[in-house]
Amino acid sequence: MRVFIGVTGASGQVYARRLAEVLLEEGVEVEACVTRAAERVMRREGERLPEGVRRYDPEDLSAPPASGTYRVDGYVVCPCSLTTLASVSAGIGSDLVKRAAIVALKEGRRLVLVVRETPWPVSALRAALELAREGATILPACPAFYHRPEDVMDLVDYVVQKVLDALGLEVDLVRYAD
Ligand SMILES: Cc1cc2nc3c(=O)[nH]c(=O)nc-3n(C[C@H](O)[C@H](O)[C@H](O)COP(=O)(O)O)c2cc1C
Repeated sequence: MRVFIGVTGASGQVYARRLAEVLLEEGVEVEACVTRAAERVMRREGERLPEGVRRYDPEDLSAPPASGTYRVDGYVVCPCSLTTLASVSAGIGSDLVKRAAIVALKEGRRLVLVVRETPWPVSALRAALELAREGATILPACPAFYHRPEDVMDLVDYVVQKVLDALGLEVDLVRYAD
């Protein structure tokens, strides 16, 4: 299985790192593209993607994930900024992350958008509705508390678990308390 992770300049770079770690542990082939804005936020949040992830330059629109002929089983934009949400909804593939997400839509493949922003302006709500209608999974980075998290990583894992579920992967990352 091959998963493409588009990392954009929203807060919550830890979600991308953890998702990539778990996918690699599961033997999934992980490819990633980090936008310029995401590089800055990643530095600020002290995060980095794990070794073993194949990286693409966001400006390289001739890279394999820019084409529908390249087989990818699941696309995750994590974290997903409102800029990328709006661009994908409008069909503007100005970098490889946005282009790959549009490819997922046009090919009818699994696309998960882990949006991180609050509150949401009407433009984002509208874009999310359009994308959901096109088949994308809108998955706000919105942890719950009923699994009795003991630290921040338990909250992160809750969101990552949801992404894994949306990708159809059977991984039990979170133990739900009774
Ligand atoms: C420290 C920092 C945190 C940010 N957090 C968010 C966020 O949580 N959500 C969001 O939509 N934009 C956030 N932004 C703004 C985006 O980085 C900005 O809109 C950028 O243009 C996104 O571009 P991209 O989607 O191409 O990565 C943040 C910016 C900075 C510098």
